[in-house]
Amino acid sequence: MTATPDTKTPARKKLYVKTYGCQMNVYDSERMTETLAARGYDAVDTPETADLVLLNTCHIREKAAEKVYSDLGRLRKLEAERGTPMQVGVAGCVAQAEGEEIVRRMPQVDLVVGPQAYHRLPAMLDALDSGAGAQVVTDFPVNDKFADLPKTRKASAPTAFLSVQEGCDKFCAFCVVPYTRGAEYSRPAADLLAEAHRLVDSGAREITLLGQNVNAYHGEGPQDVWSLARLVREMAEIDGLARIRYTTSHPNDMSDDLIAAHGEIDALMPFLHLPVQSGSDRILKAMNRKHTADGYRRLIDRIRVARPDIAMSGDFIVGFPGETDSDFKDTLSLIRDIAYAQAFSFKYSPRPGTPAAGSEQIAEEVKAERLARVQAALAESQAAFQQGCVGETMPVLLDRPGKFDGQMMGRSPYLQNVHLTVDPARRGEIVPVTITEAHRNSLGGVLAGTHAP
Ligand code: SAH
Ligand code: SF4
Ligand code: F3S
Repeated sequence: MTATPDTKTPARKKLYVKTYGCQMNVYDSERMTETLAARGYDAVDTPETADLVLLNTCHIREKAAEKVYSDLGRLRKLEAERGTPMQVGVAGCVAQAEGEEIVRRMPQVDLVVGPQAYHRLPAMLDALDSGAGAQVVTDFPVNDKFADLPKTRKASAPTAFLSVQEGCDKFCAFCVVPYTRGAEYSRPAADLLAEAHRLVDSGAREITLLGQNVNAYHGEGPQDVWSLARLVREMAEIDGLARIRYTTSHPNDMSDDLIAAHGEIDALMPFLHLPVQSGSDRILKAMNRKHTADGYRRLIDRIRVARPDIAMSGDFIVGFPGETDSDFKDTLSLIRDIAYAQAFSFKYSPRPGTPAAGSEQIAEEVKAERLARVQAALAESQAAFQQGCVGETMPVLLDRPGKFDGQMMGRSPYLQNVHLTVDPARRGEIVPVTITEAHRNSLGGVLAGTHAP
């Protein structure tokens, strides 16, 4: 007997999502994929055969934003070469910042959807199917988004992201985030606990709570408003959830209860990404950061009293308008004082619509030279931290296959990649590993107890 095609079930289509930018975009890409799965799309790893391509974009620096246009050019070529139609959508922060302009510049784009509007993708696709022109949705109905997304999210790995807070009210003078992500919004605690339970039930052992200013979290709880510390405490009670992290934090929102939580909650990992941007008070003021370099130093002292082994991470911007050699030296001395385990550093990139964009700019060569010096200082402190791990035995979450057969990659408590020889069937386990090698971006180790003397 031959199977007759079921006319009621249309063929599944293929979706390729490319993610740029921060972890919030990684989270959003997962949610978009999940939303579109319900509308007949299966995710694929490359654009070649995709019916729909979504670029989930980042607007934070000029280079990030420009990349989208070169990728769109490449997709147009691919579509012409293969000779079958490809629908193309631009999501994320460039979509929010540029809106209609994207369609004007790149008429091949069918969908433009902002980071607060992607729950509307199925309706936008319906409109396209019915012959309407390009769909652009960039409004900010934050509450609707989470309420309208499917409640079916499953963990795809032992580590998972969970967005708990979005947007930013801080308006640092260099930053587009308050414009692309809108005002601060905290999701209700009950929704987050439910999503965390679903992730753990489907295999997550570690959850990273995400927000542009995650430590400003103040979500509706059952009786009162919950802080991030309260949320972390409640999540730590979930059976099977071994590790909790949160990112990114602002120094001014590191409350006493959150600092205390680092000393009291075993599941809260000893790693903190706490951007400072500059070590000069003059520049911090011009950046509208509302804290000083010494205030930041004292804050980290207090965090280290609560959790002595905490590994610090940060972000730095060099070449902000007005930055002198002496301001820059203050940044280098802050880097030395904190002894970062890792950090990111960037050349200042003037962004349209932000207050600092109109100021007189620092010469490109000066920016490049300062960036090289900051990166050298950070590399030195990162190498010292990596080297200090050799000989230590630490719990490692085996989260993904390694490069070679019989090898796995895992995560240390300090967010380092660790590779070791271990049965890949143990993915998801947390095992004690003795560190034997330190590299720039990873550690090598052996299962504790199996180390040759
Ligand atoms: N919400 C987070 C992250 C913001 S974006 C925070 O407050 O720290 C991540 C990093 O990008 C920032 O910390 C900053 O170091 C960098 N960044 C933001 N805008 C930038 C710009 N215009 N030029 C260069 N770097 C920038
Ligand atoms: Fe941008 Fe500052 Fe808000 Fe961070 S705190 S997202 S750097 S405006
Ligand atoms: Fe980029 Fe938007 Fe994240 S601008 S850093 S993707 S919030």
